[in-house]
Amino acid sequence: MSLLEDVKKLEAEVLERIGQADSLESLKDCRVRYLGRKGPLAQILRGLGKLSPEERKETGAAANKIRASLESNFDEAAGRFTVREQKAAFDPTLPGTAQPIGTRHIINQVMGQMCHTFHGMGFEVAYGPHVETDYYNFEALNFPPDHPARDMQDTFFVEGGRVLRTHTTPVQARELEKRTPPIKMITPGKTFRNEAISTRAHVSFHQVDGFLVDEGVSMADLKGCLVAFCKSFFGEELKLKFRPSFFPFTEPSAEVDISCILCKGKGCQLCKYSGWLEILGCGMIHPNVLENAGMDSEKYTGYAFGIGVERIAMLKYKIKDIRLFFNNNARFLRQFF
Ligand code: DAH
Repeated sequence: MSLLEDVKKLEAEVLERIGQADSLESLKDCRVRYLGRKGPLAQILRGLGKLSPEERKETGAAANKIRASLESNFDEAAGRFTVREQKAAFDPTLPGTAQPIGTRHIINQVMGQMCHTFHGMGFEVAYGPHVETDYYNFEALNFPPDHPARDMQDTFFVEGGRVLRTHTTPVQARELEKRTPPIKMITPGKTFRNEAISTRAHVSFHQVDGFLVDEGVSMADLKGCLVAFCKSFFGEELKLKFRPSFFPFTEPSAEVDISCILCKGKGCQLCKYSGWLEILGCGMIHPNVLENAGMDSEKYTGYAFGIGVERIAMLKYKIKDIRLFFNNNARFLRQFF
């Protein structure tokens, strides 16, 4: 029998085996057994060396053709098995695999709600850098160098004399430089302080600052704005108290307390039996801040306020530990859809 006949016989045998294979596994075995380096085809072809050059050329070409066609037969059969096995594995009566759906982080949700409320009151939104210059974080905001007021904000210093912004108020300084009144904006975002982490304090938190600059802006406008915001956020029956305070960038300055949202002012653990909860700082923009931005403080006045987002979220959802927002416990975060 000639070599070519041997190969043809083998081809018939292999095709039969391919037809008989009953799984992808057995098909793979069969392929290795027949077409592998130690298989019968390789063995037969080794005999090519003994043929005359002419015969070798002819037989070699024919054998290679047969090998290629067997390879494609294997491929095609394997393709059929894969589809068949996938079909066999698919049981439409089984419950589907649920794809876990993420949620927006609770802090982003609350910050979004706050921005939405202010947006409805006509405030534009502006953002600024997290790594801030000393100028915008402090100096432009009327913190003179070496002024003890800088100690109010435990600052993270970074290379090049920059700081991680300790509040979002620097965005106010940046926007005041760029614009001409009337300006009515909020500046939401992340802030950083070098503080000991506790149930109430964290090294990173969020603020929504806001300000309005125009001719003839008064403290009454500030009160009207904050009363409207707090009531829309916590309910119409809410009471507000403006308490004198100090910030370098506002004069006069105030802190706002709201009547306790749990006990409605009667006194409870949340409000430490005072009936009041402190929620924000505010005031009339200091003339120096306007002048630093190149604005005429005789012509223009403005109000400003700064609200801690975590504080609002903790009150709204009765969360007792600020650390819960940041330790990425999915069981906690998933509650706030
Ligand atoms: N930047 C202040 C802080 O982080 C909060 C604040 C108070 C912002 C009064 C203001 C403001 O814009 O007018 O403590």
